[in-house]
This record gives sequence, C-alpha cells and structure tokens, in this order.
Amino acid sequence: MAWLWVFLFLGSCSFTYTFETKDYVAPRFNVSLDLPPEERWKPIIEHYNFTELQQYLKMFLSLIKDHWSKPMYFIMADIYLDFLAPEPYAGEIRGIAKALGFKTSEVTLINLIYEAVMACTSIITETKEGYIYHGRNMDLYFSIDLRKLVLDVDFIRNGQIVYTGTTFTGIVGLYTGQSPHKFSISSNARENNQVLWKNALSLLLRRYPVSWLIRDTLNSAPDFDSAVEKLSHTEITAEMYLTIAGTKPGEGVAITRDRDGLADVLNLNVSNGRWFLVQTNYDRGTPHPQHDNRMYYATQALNSTGQDNINKDSLYEVLSTHKVITWGTVHTTMMSAASPEDYVSFIRSKMAFYRRRI
Ligand SMILES: *[C@@H]1O[C@H](CO)[C@@H](O)[C@H](O)[C@H]1NC(C)=O
Ligand SMILES: *[C@@H]1O[C@H](CO)[C@@H](O)[C@H](O)[C@H]1NC(C)=O
Ligand SMILES: *[C@@H]1O[C@H](CO)[C@@H](O)[C@H](O)[C@H]1NC(C)=O
Ligand SMILES: *[C@@H]1O[C@H](CO)[C@@H](O)[C@H](O)[C@H]1NC(C)=O
Repeated sequence: MAWLWVFLFLGSCSFTYTFETKDYVAPRFNVSLDLPPEERWKPIIEHYNFTELQQYLKMFLSLIKDHWSKPMYFIMADIYLDFLAPEPYAGEIRGIAKALGFKTSEVTLINLIYEAVMACTSIITETKEGYIYHGRNMDLYFSIDLRKLVLDVDFIRNGQIVYTGTTFTGIVGLYTGQSPHKFSISSNARENNQVLWKNALSLLLRRYPVSWLIRDTLNSAPDFDSAVEKLSHTEITAEMYLTIAGTKPGEGVAITRDRDGLADVLNLNVSNGRWFLVQTNYDRGTPHPQHDNRMYYATQALNSTGQDNINKDSLYEVLSTHKVITWGTVHTTMMSAASPEDYVSFIRSKMAFYRRRI
C-alpha cells in the first residue's frame, strides 16, 4: 500500500499548480529562416501569455543562479555571445532577450546550461519490412515544470519545411529533430558532463554546443551518412549520446561522444538480430544503476513486443512502460524521417508515470 500513499501525496502536491491528467499534443509553430535571426522567434513569444512566460524563465534562471551563483558565468555568457557564438544562434538569442525584456546574458545561460541537465531515453527500431521508427523521452528533474514551454517547430525556408524539431520556448537549440525524408536525431546527456567549468572552457575554445550542432546538421547534411559523419567528429562542448535514424533498412546508429571525438558506435543490424537500439544516459558495457535501469526495462519491453509487432503505437507504449517513463518525463517525441508528416511530440502528464504503476 505504500505506493498508494506516495501517489496520493504527490498527486495533491501537483494539484496546486497543474492538474493535467492526460497526455496532449505539443503546440506547433513555424519559424521562418528567411527572416533575420533577431526576428524569427518574436511571433512565437507573442503567442504566449507574456507574464507567465517571463515567470517560467525567471524560475529557470533562479535555478541556475542557485546552483552556479558565480557572476563570472554571466560575464562569460556576454563575452561568448558577443565574440564567439556562431550565427544564427547569437542573433536569435538577442532577439528572444529583447522580446522578453531579459538580459542577453540571461537568455544565453538558459540556452547553454540546459545541455547539462537532461536525462533521456532514445530508441530506434526497424520493422520486418525495413521501416525505421525513432522515439524519445525527454526527462528533466527540475523543481519547476517546463511542460508548458515544450513546442514543436517547423523551420521554413521559401515556403518549404527544411527541418522540424522540439524545444522549449526561449531555447534556440534542438535536442530532437528531423530532416524530412533524410534522417532524425535525438541526443541524451552523458553521465559525467555536469562539470560546468569544463563546458564553459569548451565554449571559449569555440567548440559547438550540441543542440546547435544538431540544428546545423538538420539544416545542411544531405543524407543519413553525412549526418552521422558530422555528428561523430565535430568538436562539442559536452559529452553526449547521439541517436540518428535514417529512412532505409540498417540506417540507425547510437554514438557515444567525447568532446573531441567518438567514444563508441553501435549500428542497427537485423542480420545480427539487432532490430532495435536503446540509448539512455550511461555508457554501453558499464553496469547501469539499479535505481535507473531504463535500458533494461526498455529492452525487456521491446523483446516482448517483438519485431513483428513494432510500429509507432507499440513504440510509444514501450516509451510509456513503467521504469522507462519516469516522474521526470516531460515529453515523448515520435519520428520517422520517411514519413515526415508523422512527427509529433506528446506532453506527458505527471499522471502518465503514476498510472503506469497501478
Ligand atoms: C496571464 O497570466 C497571468 C498569471 O497567470 C494572469 O494573471 C493573466 O490574467 C494572464 N493574462 C491573459 C491575457 O490571459
Ligand atoms: C507553416 O508553414 C507551412 C509551409 O509554408 C504552411 O503550409 C503552414 O500553413 C504554416 N503554418 C502556420 C501555423 O502558419
Ligand atoms: C552485421 O552483422 C553481421 C554478422 O555479425 C556482420 O557480418 C556484418 O558486418 C554486420 N553489418 C554491419 C553493417 O555492421
Ligand atoms: C532481450 O532479448 C535478447 C535476445 O533474445 C536477450 O539476449 C536479452 O537478454 C533480452 N533482454 C531482456 C532485458 O529481456
């Protein structure tokens, strides 16, 4: 019965500020790449309740200040944005800061810090017919609830969708995205990248924030192989896991990144029985912690689903399985670059996790 009390207790806590009990589809917006970077996000920001959006981002910022109160970081953020940050991201951040009435250093930090704090599960599967599905849970263990800020964005040039991605309002990078008819990408934080000064140093060495590298790749890589190549070798600011899925049989890879190169690679290989890849936040070949063995439970759920029965609904079920979904799961995104119109993110209610325990 113990869990029931926990359930009631947590249930009543969350009651005070949100009472979403159902999963729902994330809002979707266009960002025009034909506009100057400073103006691209303004229409989206204007769509939100301004007071509420400011409140959320202030809470996010105070979280950063609590953990890393050093004014040094704000000074470094300004120097970084003015002298080192690549376009269009620097311009987009300036535009967002202006639209929100925030300091540019504040929006820069919100954009850069986020990278170090996400825990996630990514899965690629291949059907018997060679069709590729890619799904991911985004898990965040913040004391504030960022669900209301999740959005899917279509990036448009000349009236065409160049790429699609999922982010949080105010954050210009992508941790999840799709280049239509080519490939899809998701990234998961690597356990030991929490060392903030190392990331800060990396930035000053002009390494690339991962979420910007993902946007660049979605924007310009002509095919699956070039995307894998670019994501394997570009120097990045934080260690990371990257999962990349294509449109043809065998096009699925989970790569483990050090800051300056590749640490490990695993491919889909149906002839070898590997019709799915699971990536969480721990290195392959090392024991995963008992209290967070999402790898084990996802593998078990995929095994019992079987290759014959895998499709976007059953993959969503796998990502919703007890101990794969966590109390921190904010959204689940489903992708198949071969059918780009199927791209969708679901905001997961807190109830999604508790319901699975019953
Ligand atoms: C925006 O949110 C604030 C705080 O939750 C609320 O007081 C206000 O009425 C909202 N404004 C609009 C236009 O909905
Ligand atoms: C987004 O852009 C696409 C392509 O130009 C267009 O078809 C669609 O109506 C736009 N959506 C919104 C919400 O403006
Ligand atoms: C797939 O596995 C088979 C059998 O182990 C191996 O011979 C082949 O090289 C692998 N293919 C790829 C692309 O890794
Ligand atoms: C999943 O199936 C594979 C192949 O049969 C097996 O080696 C593995 O132990 C299974 N894993 C789980 C967690 O059930």
